[in-house]
Amino acid sequence: MKLSIRNIAPAGKRVLMRVDFNVPLDDDGNITDDSRIKGAIPSIEHLTNAGGRVILMSHLGRPKGEKNPAFSLKPAADRLGELISANVKFVDDCVGPDAEAAVADLKDGEVLLLENVRFYAGETDNDPEFSKQLATHGDIYVNDAFGTAHRAHASTAGVTAHIDTCAMGFLIEKELEFLVDKLKEPQRPFVVIMGGAKVSDKIKILERLMEKADAFIIGGAMGTTFRLAQGYEVGKSFVEDTPEARQMALDIIETAKANNAEFLLPADTRHAADFADDAPTECTAPWEDGGAIPADREGIDIGDLACEEFAAKIAEAGTIVWNGPMGVFEKRGFDIGTKAVGAAIAANESAIKIVGGGDSVTAANQFGFGEKMDHMSTGGGASLELLEGKELPGIAALDDA
Ligand code: 3PG
Repeated sequence: MKLSIRNIAPAGKRVLMRVDFNVPLDDDGNITDDSRIKGAIPSIEHLTNAGGRVILMSHLGRPKGEKNPAFSLKPAADRLGELISANVKFVDDCVGPDAEAAVADLKDGEVLLLENVRFYAGETDNDPEFSKQLATHGDIYVNDAFGTAHRAHASTAGVTAHIDTCAMGFLIEKELEFLVDKLKEPQRPFVVIMGGAKVSDKIKILERLMEKADAFIIGGAMGTTFRLAQGYEVGKSFVEDTPEARQMALDIIETAKANNAEFLLPADTRHAADFADDAPTECTAPWEDGGAIPADREGIDIGDLACEEFAAKIAEAGTIVWNGPMGVFEKRGFDIGTKAVGAAIAANESAIKIVGGGDSVTAANQFGFGEKMDHMSTGGGASLELLEGKELPGIAALDDA
């Protein structure tokens, strides 16, 4: 158990807090999804309400150690200022005289956002000197950047060597509660829904959850790779067509059998000739009754029968972890399976419903199911690594409670 933000005394102190404000921006620099900023607000307000001086640091994008205005955090500071009542200031550097002066000026209950820490190579190099410079800004350190907790960088890990009190924020606490604690003794049946592009990206999670899950539901392009591995015709679908990936797919089916876990592959697959919005689509016959994707077409979603079967299994679940879309949901007409699975999860009122970051969170929000979920992770890579059972450096570096 790590030290929590609830157990520190921030009044009158400079609290240096790592947040993940790596938000998507459009071409004009407008934030298109502010959920990561909103996710940090409970911790920020807890500190300001208690009279702390909050110094926020984050990265945005991958500016590769150079100052580049396209990766400035100024829009995030403006957005945060609109969302909270405290005064939010911004300084266009994260170390050096300007940053130091801005920190020194800060009053109890105020918030300062430092400019992008990745404008210095020392950040991603986890350079001890750079870590020390960052650490001079704080008496207490809080990490609430769950999305970056899988990186051992100066602001997520190195800095903790130079500050005595290092705690986790509410966001990290909640992510751990749902992605670790709730899965230790899951409410049953425990159903894991996996989609996305590659079997190899998700294999470690499948293996890890094998001991715990009662059923797996597999969709997305990785579902088609399983069908390929079983010897079916998949046309020009995007699949992992290597002997290793095929073997991996067959092995995991065997492991599921050995563990008495149900392993549901899509019964049928929706396919199209053109990879374009509103392209005409059709479903294969059930795979196990001789279904096939024609040579000139590609699988783009799970089929109608698969939608029905998956929804029925999801309706029985006591705990659901969803990671990865069922099809190319970004394209109109290719989103039927992802929408159906999202709707089935949302409709299961008694289950604990956890969405594991990245595309599935985007999909849940896009289709209006976000509010129904118990937890939507703010991490992409971080939530995958946590589900794989890995220790995240940004959490490991914090004080034990
Ligand atoms: C993310 O968006 O996954 C995190 O902010 C981490 O960003 P990174 O992959 O550039 O380290």
